[in-house]
Amino acid sequence: MSFSKAKRFFQKKISIHKTTVVIIAIMGCVFTAIRCTNNNEEKEISTEVQYSDYAGSGKCISCHKEVYDSFVHTAHYLTGKPAEEQFIKGSFTPGSNSYHYNPQLHIDMEKTDSGFYQVVYYKGDKKMSMRFDMVIGSGTKGQSFLTWRENKLFQLPITYYTEANQWSVSPGLRTDKVVIDKAITSRCMECHSSFVQALGDPQLEPMEFDRSKVILGVDCEKCHGPAAKHVEFQAANPQEKSGKYIVNPASLSRQLQLDACAVCHASNISKTKPSFQFIPGKSLLDYFRVDSLSQVAVDNGNIDVHGNQYGLMTSSKCFRMSDKLTCNSCHNSHANEKGSTALFSQRCIDCHSTTDATFQTASHKQVNAIDKNCIDCHMPTQPSRAIAVKLQGEEKMSASLIRSHFISVYEEATKNFLKAQKK
Ligand code: HEC
Ligand code: HEC
Ligand code: HEC
Ligand code: HEC
Ligand code: HEC
Ligand code: HEC
Ligand code: HEC
Repeated sequence: MSFSKAKRFFQKKISIHKTTVVIIAIMGCVFTAIRCTNNNEEKEISTEVQYSDYAGSGKCISCHKEVYDSFVHTAHYLTGKPAEEQFIKGSFTPGSNSYHYNPQLHIDMEKTDSGFYQVVYYKGDKKMSMRFDMVIGSGTKGQSFLTWRENKLFQLPITYYTEANQWSVSPGLRTDKVVIDKAITSRCMECHSSFVQALGDPQLEPMEFDRSKVILGVDCEKCHGPAAKHVEFQAANPQEKSGKYIVNPASLSRQLQLDACAVCHASNISKTKPSFQFIPGKSLLDYFRVDSLSQVAVDNGNIDVHGNQYGLMTSSKCFRMSDKLTCNSCHNSHANEKGSTALFSQRCIDCHSTTDATFQTASHKQVNAIDKNCIDCHMPTQPSRAIAVKLQGEEKMSASLIRSHFISVYEEATKNFLKAQKK
């Protein structure tokens, strides 16, 4: 079944949102017209930062092999990948490759010679199939999948949810019907890829992209700036021992270092310039309106931790009462240090010596190995509202747990920690 036919089917049987369908149908015609009369080169928006300014991490290996070899194990590198078998975490084996909306309606994940598909079945009949083109998410928590239609990206209805090792409805989508028209905004790509060449009007969302000009994942150049010129210069000048035309975050001011991470880790910001124009070393405020989490929100317990490490961390006393804390004080961007609790605790101890009077308090004195874990008491995990899915057969949503970056005293977490320690 073709996409438009399928849409009509869903409209009738499963009642997809009507206006969206109409808009998509109209846009579909516009696309076809543009495609006949124009090519992508002409539609490219002329902006300060272009695809040709980028080299891609493959080019860094020859001179920075150690960094590269370690970096490829990070969630950043893995957060955007082509839809190949090695990168898709969920199962395609019959028996564990389905999601059932109701007894009549289900989606199977199917592998064929031409790729991977989400196939919709209604009363046993195959209704439509949608191709996996791109994997979003390292799979630490889950993976969502995108499909190209013309020059636009759409989110597939089914997501892989790691904790339960199950396929489930993608976060934010209705669970009583199949939603096939969830367009992917350029903002989604700005956080989960390094660069995508935008086409057409930059004010229009969902934006059109040139699918041949995509740098997947949070790659080297997302933190170091476009590096084609650096690569060219260093290759032509092998005697040159210092790096040119490249940003080292360590030499930026504290705020600019924070900005380079906040572009993706401060959820409440909105663009004021075209997509992908912010690069490290620039001030985020020249490209985005920052609406970061206020203390009031923290006090009210209204903290959606998803993606807002910046807002939470900068509300913490550790940040407000020291002049040097940045994300890089605790995180090494080139290595996967997930779960290395003792290592992270050491970074707390850099500022909070365990020989201080602080460590004579009642709670601290009860801890067996205080230098091994500051984290579970002072940065407990909390359920995310954004990364939450409805698992098959369950009524309640299951939410991913996310580490709070509001570093503080948590009584409940302390109680749980001390209880667990006794066992
Ligand atoms: C032809 C060799 C070469 C290639 C290719 C290369 N670099 Fe470099 N880079 C260097 C040299 C030499 C330096 C200076 C010594 C150092 O800091 O390692 C450097 C330094 C750097 C620095 C630190 C700059 C500073 O001011 O401290 C960064 C960051 C960097 N490179 C990133 C990259 C990235 C990202 C890529 C791939 C897109 C890349 N490099 C590709 C040779 C290269
Ligand atoms: C282009 C957007 C972007 C930028 C810039 C960015 N991040 Fe991330 N970061 C992400 C995304 C997306 C994830 C989730 C990756 C996943 O698991 O799929 C992530 C995950 C992480 C994680 C969790 C890693 C893990 O093992 O689960 C840490 C820590 C982190 N980022 C720190 C930083 C720091 C520090 C900076 C700045 C130096 C930074 N990020 C800059 C988008 C970004
Ligand atoms: C403002 C930046 C931002 C935007 C926009 C964004 N994400 Fe994320 N996403 C993150 C960060 C950061 C994480 C890591 C978890 C966290 O810190 O909350 C993440 C985590 C994820 C994960 C789980 C990855 C894992 O295994 O840990 C998936 C899947 C995901 N995002 C998909 C999407 C999709 C699809 C969109 C667009 C519809 C989107 N995200 C929009 C920043 C963003
Ligand atoms: C999430 C952000 C991020 C990503 C992605 C990233 N880096 Fe870095 N890089 C940093 C930060 C932050 C520093 C400064 C570390 C410090 O404080 O000394 C740095 C420093 C460097 C340096 C200077 C020397 C050193 O090791 O400290 C080089 C060279 C470098 N990075 C190369 C790369 C290459 C090559 C890649 C990809 C394979 C890469 N980086 C990916 C954030 C990142
Ligand atoms: C760059 C230095 C620095 C680092 C790193 C740091 N802190 Fe702090 N922290 C401070 C300062 C300064 C204060 C405020 C003065 C004080 O209470 O000691 C503070 C305050 C605190 C407080 C009291 C918070 C409150 O609301 O009363 C806790 C708890 C804390 N830090 C825990 C941690 C933990 C756990 C880590 C590691 C995950 C950490 N800190 C890392 C500097 C730091
Ligand atoms: C005081 C230390 C500290 C600072 C500063 C800090 N983090 Fe973290 N971060 C941690 C610890 C500890 C974890 C949990 C790591 C684990 O258990 O694997 C973590 C986890 C994360 C995760 C994964 C969240 C999850 O639950 O999956 C992201 C994303 C992240 N940090 C981003 C950032 C960003 C962006 C900044 C700066 C705005 C930052 N962090 C500043 C200590 C810190
Ligand atoms: C069992 C949970 C637990 C662990 C583990 C723990 N803390 Fe605490 N911490 C607390 C509690 C609770 C308080 C509040 C004072 C009290 O009740 O003892 C506190 C207070 C603090 C304070 C603020 C003291 C003040 O002057 O207001 C700092 C700083 C701190 N902790 C840092 C750390 C660091 C650094 C580590 C790891 C080396 C750590 N804590 C490990 C529970 C813990």
